[in-house]
Amino acid sequence: MNVLSVTSEIYPLIKTGGLADVSGALPIALKACGVHTRSLIPGYPAVKSAVKDAHKVGEFPDLLGEHADILAGEHEGLDLLILDIPSLYDRPAGPYLDSTGKDFADNWKRYAALSLAAAEIAAGKLAGWQPDLLHAHDWQSAMAPVYMRYAETPEIPSLLTIHNIAFQGQFGANIFSELRLPAHAFSTESIEYYNDISFLKGGLQTATALSTVSPSYAEEILTPDYGMGLEGVIRARAQALHGIVNGIDAEVWNPAIDHLIQENYTAANLKLRAINKAAVANHFRVDHDNGPLFCVISRLTWQKGIDLIAEVADDIVEMGGRLVVLGAGEIALEGALMAAATRHPGRVGVAVGYNEPLSHLMQAGCDAIIVPSRFEPCGLTQLYALRYGCVPVVARNGGLNDTVIDANHAAVSAKVATGVQFSSVTPEGLRQALRRTMRYYRDPKLWTQMQKQGMKSDVSWEKSAGLYAALYTQLLSKGH
Ligand code: ADP
Ligand code: GLC
Repeated sequence: MNVLSVTSEIYPLIKTGGLADVSGALPIALKACGVHTRSLIPGYPAVKSAVKDAHKVGEFPDLLGEHADILAGEHEGLDLLILDIPSLYDRPAGPYLDSTGKDFADNWKRYAALSLAAAEIAAGKLAGWQPDLLHAHDWQSAMAPVYMRYAETPEIPSLLTIHNIAFQGQFGANIFSELRLPAHAFSTESIEYYNDISFLKGGLQTATALSTVSPSYAEEILTPDYGMGLEGVIRARAQALHGIVNGIDAEVWNPAIDHLIQENYTAANLKLRAINKAAVANHFRVDHDNGPLFCVISRLTWQKGIDLIAEVADDIVEMGGRLVVLGAGEIALEGALMAAATRHPGRVGVAVGYNEPLSHLMQAGCDAIIVPSRFEPCGLTQLYALRYGCVPVVARNGGLNDTVIDANHAAVSAKVATGVQFSSVTPEGLRQALRRTMRYYRDPKLWTQMQKQGMKSDVSWEKSAGLYAALYTQLLSKGH
């Protein structure tokens, strides 16, 4: 089976969050299921400079008014199709934001072009390769099924995966004429959304099937609390909606071979964590002691509940813990965390920025990771934590609910607990969860039991890749 995956980021080439991890790992995991994936990605500078063997395999002379070349290349097991339009993608800074942190004004065009190129390839317009199915991710490629719907060629099945419904690709109706869609596409059954245009809504209306990245989140987005205005649209398509939990790249996140960790560190040897813990403490210039070292590795946003972290920093210190935070994002949240670090020298450390190697070291050395998200489609940091023996303390929603087993009385007795969950995502809810975590930490037998149980959790892609492959097969057999 040939699948065209369309994505705006892909690990290890370009990443702002979990979407990249997933779009980078899933194609590799799917190979074992007999699925061959080619990933269409924009030709950002980071992509073009890393993929050395990229060569031209096709072109679209007029893609929304731009000349586009399609380059093919391989990178670390990924089969890539690179959409090369220098006027749209050859820009410094991140994929979506300029150097001042603002969205590029032409993001609608950058991602409509990506989607249109995908639809053209789906329609067989790339010589020598025809996908059987198209898999789009988030708003940036959600227009692919829309373009497929209005194309003259027969449609192949499409799946749209929602990684984060908070980003919907909403733009003014004034761009409509430039999208080159037929006039009737501007309707509530398609991309029209309160007189504006929503790329995500268009994809939700037109894709053959929808999925999101955990079963709990698939339930949650049917409700106003989590649907972010799209719950009605999704409810109308509930029959076509699937929830498949993410896995992790077991090679990239492998405690047994992670070079930051002692060579003989294995899942069976927790004692070596102390060395990593000391290294983390050194990095963040916090004290060395026997109390728990809590960490946060996150985008600093409201979604991730980072304001709650700033609120409870004093409590963590008062309880005898230390806190280290690695993250980047909203300036106000960075400021609140820095203020906590200033109040508590030696007890709270903050590293602002994006640092992949440090994130590995923190998972390998910290005692617990706090993930107080207000909503979390899946969440990957708690999965890495489980594999590395770092105990997750998480809000009970979305993928956090599906992947961590709370240390309640029954779970502790049955020796199946892997972490701590809390349902009231408020400073007090988090404080109570931290008090509970402190109690467990002071019971070394219980703590070690939880770590070991977490390390045994199946966080691999194997099972979920099988579920995606089965879903693809089901969509193909419906004869679209
Ligand atoms: P989201 O995609 O919503 O940000 P996920 O938990 O799915 O959340 O994925 C976040 C990914 O980004 C993880 O791989 C995490 O380790 C990584 N990450 C987040 N912030 C940082 C940072 N400041 N430095 C390094 N890695 C980070
Ligand atoms: C999104 C979500 C996160 C999920 C990731 C990958 O960014 O916020 O929960 O793990 O996508 O699917």
